[in-house]
Amino acid sequence: MNFEDKLREALDKEKISFHFPGHKGKCGDLYPDLYGLDTTETFGTDNLAKPEGILKESMEDLAKIYGTRASYLGVGGSTMALYAGLYSLTREGQTIGLPRNSHRSLFQAAELLHLNISLIDLEESQEGLGTWISLKTVKKAPNFDVLVVASPSYYGHLAPLKDLVTYAHERKIPVLVDEAHGSHLPFFSREDSGLGQGADITVHSVHKMLPGLTSTALLHVQGEVDLDRVQQGIKFFTTTSPSYLMMASISRAVDWMDQVGRGKVLDLIQAMDPFYQDLDQAGIELLRGPRQDPLKWLIQVPGYTGREVYERLFKDYGLALEMYDQNRALAVLSPVDGKKELAALTEALLSFPKREPRPRKPLKMPELVDFLETKDRRNFKMKKIDFRKAVGLYAGDFVTPYPPGIPLLYPQGKINQDQVDYLQDLLEAGISLEGLDEKLRMNVIQ
Ligand SMILES: Cc1ncc(COP(=O)(O)O)c(C=O)c1O
Repeated sequence: MNFEDKLREALDKEKISFHFPGHKGKCGDLYPDLYGLDTTETFGTDNLAKPEGILKESMEDLAKIYGTRASYLGVGGSTMALYAGLYSLTREGQTIGLPRNSHRSLFQAAELLHLNISLIDLEESQEGLGTWISLKTVKKAPNFDVLVVASPSYYGHLAPLKDLVTYAHERKIPVLVDEAHGSHLPFFSREDSGLGQGADITVHSVHKMLPGLTSTALLHVQGEVDLDRVQQGIKFFTTTSPSYLMMASISRAVDWMDQVGRGKVLDLIQAMDPFYQDLDQAGIELLRGPRQDPLKWLIQVPGYTGREVYERLFKDYGLALEMYDQNRALAVLSPVDGKKELAALTEALLSFPKREPRPRKPLKMPELVDFLETKDRRNFKMKKIDFRKAVGLYAGDFVTPYPPGIPLLYPQGKINQDQVDYLQDLLEAGISLEGLDEKLRMNVIQ
């Protein structure tokens, strides 16, 4: 069987997608002529590295829709847009304030761009609902030159952007919002978006919450950022052959969202109440932070681990969720979903056999250093060692549960017993860890 057959076989088992990409495989009519649009820089097609023609016009149209100073097309996901964003906001040797729930792309950016990291701790809810950034934790972090905030988080928790941006701007610190998970927000709740709160740069994964092709992204500029440096950053981190199909898909997805999707999201949110109530009566919780994106359902079923919920929904009902952790499973809804999807998920959850509730596993990430002086890891000699024997040594790579892609060990960070215990806990919960090989060995610095 070739790769495509195997891929189709895997996808055929799925009846309804509750994961990315946001188009959920339902938007084929947006692109009947797939190969016809796949072109390169030629007569009349412009050049992403030096946009002067139709790409420039498309970006100007996007800036109008989003109300930004400038919006840039990205074809390497938020990962590359974040690299370009940090490239334009920093200078070598500066320090970025990075919350502990940041995606590994931001830690990678720090290493690539020779930036230090001031780690911002998270607040933990007493009820074990999760952890999130707050102004209090930002104030406690060691000094930084640029503040980075992930909002919404993978789990849909919205950061208090207004407070954070005001605090940073009063100190003349620029703010970059990693809004990979919030590309839908500017269309129905702009105040929850970096765009609504005047962040200097806001980055969107168009493929996550809008119907863009996978790897599509946008980088929006509002603050006093040097646009030449942004363009330089985009050029630096983008292939010299950007996909026109993907770039066309960004503008198609945004237009669709502006004209149709906006209303569909509002309808979807309005339709949720009776489903919430049915789940609530059955003791099934949809967990929320202080503020929550309604399109992310973080589900906890009494007596079931996150993995059991995830696997049962897929095997028995063909409902494919995005991820699970020790306690919870995450369902992603998108603007292309409606009542049918809400009903299928709710009915499946209600039909789970009842179990005695079990205590929630604590989800607080283990204690870490609060400052990382990042050096290029190629300077170090590495060796592989069983992670359980690595306490007291310095990590040579990230160790990251994926998803959500939030690293627990950082290159050059000293490894402690709490971290090792937490990783052990994740492995026992069936969570895959990037950075460990099949023998559970990791790279440490010699
Ligand atoms: C919070 C966050 N930021 C950035 C990214 C990177 O996004 P992309 O996959 O579009 O490169 C992810 C990916 O899951 C993420 O969860």
